[in-house]
Amino acid sequence: MENLILSDHRKTATAENMVFDRFRKKESLNGEWHYAVDQYDTCLSQKWYEEKYYDEAGNTLPVDFSFDKWETMNLPCCWNTEDRMYLLYEGSMIYTRTFLYAKQMEDERMILKIGAANYLCRIYLNKKYVGMHQGGSTPCYFDITDELEQSNRILIQVDSRRRSSQVPPEATDWFNYGGVYRDIELIRVPKLHIRDFRIALEPDGSFRRIRASVRLSEAVTDTAVLTIGELGICQEITVEDGWGEAVFEAAPQLWSPEHPKLYEVGVSCASDRISDRVGFREIRVKGMEILLNGHPIFLRGVSCHEDSVPGGKMLTDEERLDNIRNAKELGCNFMRVAHYPHSERMAQLADEMGIMLWEEIPVYWQVQFDSPDTYRDAENQLKELITRDYNRASVIIWSVGNENEDTDARLKFMGSLAACARSMDPTRMVSAACLVNFAKNAIEDRLEQYLDIIGLNEYCGWYTPDLKMLPQLFANSCPEKPVIITEFGADAQPGLRGTITDKGTEDCQAYVYEKQTQQIRKISYIKGMTPWILNDFRCPRRTSSIQNYYNTKGLLSADHQHKKLAFYVLRDFYHSLMETE
Ligand code: GCU
Repeated sequence: MENLILSDHRKTATAENMVFDRFRKKESLNGEWHYAVDQYDTCLSQKWYEEKYYDEAGNTLPVDFSFDKWETMNLPCCWNTEDRMYLLYEGSMIYTRTFLYAKQMEDERMILKIGAANYLCRIYLNKKYVGMHQGGSTPCYFDITDELEQSNRILIQVDSRRRSSQVPPEATDWFNYGGVYRDIELIRVPKLHIRDFRIALEPDGSFRRIRASVRLSEAVTDTAVLTIGELGICQEITVEDGWGEAVFEAAPQLWSPEHPKLYEVGVSCASDRISDRVGFREIRVKGMEILLNGHPIFLRGVSCHEDSVPGGKMLTDEERLDNIRNAKELGCNFMRVAHYPHSERMAQLADEMGIMLWEEIPVYWQVQFDSPDTYRDAENQLKELITRDYNRASVIIWSVGNENEDTDARLKFMGSLAACARSMDPTRMVSAACLVNFAKNAIEDRLEQYLDIIGLNEYCGWYTPDLKMLPQLFANSCPEKPVIITEFGADAQPGLRGTITDKGTEDCQAYVYEKQTQQIRKISYIKGMTPWILNDFRCPRRTSSIQNYYNTKGLLSADHQHKKLAFYVLRDFYHSLMETE
């Protein structure tokens, strides 16, 4: 099995294969797909996708599959929530369907886009191997033009197995949902098309200069035309060898959570036209301050998993909007969407609704920091995330990981990721959620040298029961960069009441929030917080009677129906901060 993965690298879809697709016309392959549970990866080892029904002499051959007689599953979905029989299944599933194709443009290319499949997926079309993608939360794109016929059979093998060599590794504190759980779409583009389009306010403090770049599918010389009608912009971008960039003056109304102003942006080049809805804002660190559009801010946030009772990792827009609304009811201007790239819809909705985001790749806990393959996987997921969400004003921070022991190998691995993020995107901050240096009870992690903002997970009052450790932690620390407390919290079974020392009760969780916020508000170097976590979420490691296979540190129950006491403690704290702003 492992060597099958390695042999696929010749056709692995990566960030370089991505195609700018927002608002492009798409043909959906969502819907009923036939499927089989393939526990032994027989599809790969017996090459079911070649559909060998006869031998050379024309004799029928026995086969162990019946593609179009298999049961069906409605994709996209997580198989775990589709059928109780598959709740805990981790392994491979085979999905297949047929579809018709007719060329519409003379030189068109047909791109297959899979919004996300956890963790590995392999694509076969008309008995031929198209390629694979590694990484469970970012999109992949395949040019399938040359394999297309009038009537087509597509087969997707998804392998959800956790592996220590992957990112995330085997052990995490969330549920390992499997499947193709974001849209499956076909996108027609002219042979010469816009592969990537990036636009942002130049982070030079002028708020009057915009930088835009275009990458084409061919290494040609051409001219792209960028328009922002509402700003009276019609800007030519000279493209040479397939790439071009322009910096131009403009006076946009700046995007902010309070005023989430978005502009219609259009770009045309040769016969291709794309569009986007973009907010213009500047985020930067100056000394110990985080500045949004030149003004110091405090990031009033909350952490959030991509986890739904009915859909697992496949959320609906309504569920995402509910999360944003609950965050705004708390008084949040910020959300840490952890620990992996959430759907692109989250950042698009955050742009519209006005809430800033911390986005993160799942370099989580004990990653194989000395493995070049593991680094390639992590770096590719980071590049895919940045390429996908570059134009989203709501995204202000790229996080390169969470709670990783401070070792030399980890420092090199994550320092390189931070450098990669910074080189791809000089308009955003780079951070990571670091551990407390428990030997010194201080904020001290060698990774800080590579970060703009220091994230810190501390659980005083919970995993560190003695709350007196909290003021000592802050007193022992002298960070040289702004700090965001990226996690504190406590488990509480929804509705369970008791004393402030009864762990697992809402009263205890609320007490931890009271004590944490009382301390945090006194510390000038803390410029934000994203307590763990907005909603209870599925987690196989949490089996106590109050958890019942859920991590219950949520401020709301998993179904969002019950707000716990701590929700109101945090809400009152944030609203008191807003009064002082
Ligand atoms: C850790 C980790 C989270 C986890 C949380 C917890 O800090 O980052 O992913 O869920 O603590 O223990 O509840």
